[in-house]
Amino acid sequence: MRSVLFVCLGNICRSPLAEGLFRHHVETAGLSDRFTIDSAGTGNWHKGEPPDRRSIAVAARYGVAIHEQCARQLHADDFHRFDLILGLDRDNVRNIRTLMPDDATATVALYLDEALGISKDVPDPYYGDARDFETVYNLCDKASVALLAKLTKPAP
Ligand code: 4NP
Repeated sequence: MRSVLFVCLGNICRSPLAEGLFRHHVETAGLSDRFTIDSAGTGNWHKGEPPDRRSIAVAARYGVAIHEQCARQLHADDFHRFDLILGLDRDNVRNIRTLMPDDATATVALYLDEALGISKDVPDPYYGDARDFETVYNLCDKASVALLAKLTKPAP
């Protein structure tokens, strides 16, 4: 069993897409019983809200439903409940590490670095337009496929 938590700032734009796409690829591969998947924000401004309508729309265009997700803030328990906590950008990773308790069991990493081996941020689309959400969708789709392959690779 692997547990993965995707974390951005508000938990309404990027991490819901990262969560939804990773879950989509896990389900397509028939591996749902091997993963716990969730997302959270380092901030609490959007707690209890559904994802941003632009994230819902871009995912829906590709047949991926994320509208039932509900934003929440990263919590100290998450550092024990999840094996892997992935920050969508470097600011997120810095903020996650600030909240990390000394006895944390989780590994914290930058999302695209962990998935694709590239030290790049997923850009924040909040003040952008539909094209920016499309970019986030495509990055998260590619990263999800690679992350699933990495996490299911047999140990050498
Ligand atoms: P996210 O995007 O971190 O990808 O969910 C944002 C959502 C909300 C805000 C900023 C970024 N905000 O300033 O409220």
